[in-house]
Amino acid sequence: MSKSADLAALIRARAGDAPVQVGLILGSGLGHLTGAVDGVAIPYGDLDGFPHAGVSGHNPNLVIGNLEGVRVAVFGGRAHYYESGRGDAMRLPLEVLHDLGADTLIATNAAGSMRPDMVTGSIMCLSDHINFSGLNPLIGEPTDARFVPMKDAYDPGLRAALRAAATAENTDMADGIYAWYSGPSFETPAEIRAIAMLGADAVGMSTVPEVILGRFLGLRCAAISTITNMAAGMSDENISHDHTKAMAPIGAAKLEKVLRRYLRDRE
Ligand code: HPA
Repeated sequence: MSKSADLAALIRARAGDAPVQVGLILGSGLGHLTGAVDGVAIPYGDLDGFPHAGVSGHNPNLVIGNLEGVRVAVFGGRAHYYESGRGDAMRLPLEVLHDLGADTLIATNAAGSMRPDMVTGSIMCLSDHINFSGLNPLIGEPTDARFVPMKDAYDPGLRAALRAAATAENTDMADGIYAWYSGPSFETPAEIRAIAMLGADAVGMSTVPEVILGRFLGLRCAAISTITNMAAGMSDENISHDHTKAMAPIGAAKLEKVLRRYLRDRE
């Protein structure tokens, strides 16, 4: 058996055989949502090859169970490229998600905004991305499956369902383009001006490799950012990881409403 199939078997033995429908990856400051799931939490440390120590503000548990009537797999934390230098750091967890039966991946993240009207505390549904890092999680993949089409990578139907959920919850949710910057240092103001000119609305250090991997695995993908700061040079606001963690809960409350509603109304 492949490594992911072994892990999926271990997870099924602990959490039950029912197929998972939706995978959720929680970003900085959002890890508490793992506690909202009625299910079984498995520490990443028990899952060989899963990210270990991780980043503060994340919760390194995989929780399998029920959220708003949908069987979900919630990744309380993610591995970032900047932790290991590996662009494919989330490949194994996403292969496991696929092996557990999921057909949908929703990634969340904290991001800086380049749009004056998208202030700290806003949420943004990704319509597309710019891979500003130039890295790719599929480098080294030997099969032709590596040539993944990326048009409509953010699934139009899934985005429409998330939009309907936001409307039903009376929650403002912007639409926008996310640029992936490698991190871990934040961007310079000149870099932010450059990517804004290229068409990006928000910037962050994750999600893009996961969506590339998700499409590689045939998952329908969507992603939502919580805006934790205006991007470098856009305001006098302080930019730091502590600030990200302190601000994430404002957007996280909106995000949680939208996600719960999406799951409740999912057909
Ligand atoms: N840049 C990159 N990543 C981020 C930011 C930012 O301004 N804010 C939260 N994550």
